[in-house]
Amino acid sequence: MITEATKQRFAREVAKYPADQKQSAVMACLSIVQQEQGWVSAESEAVIADYLGMPQIAVHEVTTFYNMYNQQPVGKYKLAVCTNLPCQLRRGQDALHHLEHKLGIAMGETTADGLFTLQQCECLGACADAPVMLVNDRSMCSFMDDEKLDQLVDGLRAAEGQA
Ligand code: FES
Repeated sequence: MITEATKQRFAREVAKYPADQKQSAVMACLSIVQQEQGWVSAESEAVIADYLGMPQIAVHEVTTFYNMYNQQPVGKYKLAVCTNLPCQLRRGQDALHHLEHKLGIAMGETTADGLFTLQQCECLGACADAPVMLVNDRSMCSFMDDEKLDQLVDGLRAAEGQA
């Protein structure tokens, strides 16, 4: 559900653009919804579309184009492993499989404790550092061999008191 407080945040973003170009705030509005709810539902897309005066499908196209927008609820730690060709050539797919095995889930799934969601993603623009992954859409992790992947997962579990 989108609250009035959320719509006030939308309004602050819309105010950054000319009055006839408020659709330019669509990414900001999607980010606000995701900050508040953790993901972007079809219902939220409809509210944003209505608010910005654009077709709902156009909002959905933005949501589905960018990996950072979650189209379903995700775990506390979203692990996105790059599997594009340059990373593939340097064990990107192996890194994904290693995490699947360590977490006991398949790509696209979330652990039962809600801690980790595992995804694959497109090129992160750091091919020379392959295998590369992104944690929670913010933290880039480079040269992720099996040892570093284990350290990452074990460290996050320890931080949650689950070591
Ligand atoms: S292909 Fe993985 S970062 Fe570019």
